[in-house]
Amino acid sequence: MNADEMKKQAAWAALEYIKGDGIVGVGTGSTVNHFIDALATIKDRIEGAVSSSEASTAKLEANGIKVFDLNDCNEIEVYVDGADESNSLLELIKGGGGALTREKIIAAASKQFVCIADASKLVDILGKFPLPVEVIPMARSYVAREIVKLGGQPVYREGVITDNGNVILDVHGLEIMEPIKLEKTLNDSVGVVTNGLFAMRPADVLLLGSPEGTKTVLAK
Ligand code: A5P
Repeated sequence: MNADEMKKQAAWAALEYIKGDGIVGVGTGSTVNHFIDALATIKDRIEGAVSSSEASTAKLEANGIKVFDLNDCNEIEVYVDGADESNSLLELIKGGGGALTREKIIAAASKQFVCIADASKLVDILGKFPLPVEVIPMARSYVAREIVKLGGQPVYREGVITDNGNVILDVHGLEIMEPIKLEKTLNDSVGVVTNGLFAMRPADVLLLGSPEGTKTVLAK
């Protein structure tokens, strides 16, 4: 079973968490693309979706799923999204696809966060995957210097502009022993929009696709 098949398995398993007939929070990425295909099979039962990126919005609409502005919604029941890494507390690194800020906003506005991923995403310590940080363009060099002071090696993701008009620094060389502390510290830097650590608001459930079937991991 390859990684994409594991992602697909986890994505379809997430349908079980769509219990009501309301608006579903939808993340971004290759795993979520499988989830959108799955969601399309129950589109007549739900009101629609809120989306974390222009890419997911386009795919949702192409599948006939109505996309709402988050400002027009009350609390979202369930948010489904992928991850680049998760630890056993379901603290995540996200943002490989550059959609971290909108993802974090919808995660915060949702009652339940269901994370879908292939088995390789579960790690002991976060940080092998470079941590994405979304930055206001004029602050890029300043923020990069601040990150170096914290012990990270920031690399400018060249040619990428986020849906919010900002740039991304991918921070290498981190071994993240205190994810909540680092999430807060990075966000304190002027010019940082947000960073890809989802530790203050971790996932509630992690569905991991694997050759042995989908594993459900709850935060320890
Ligand atoms: C998008 O910005 C990310 O947070 C994705 O959720 C994450 O990179 C996982 O992507 P895949 O589902 O493509 O592995």
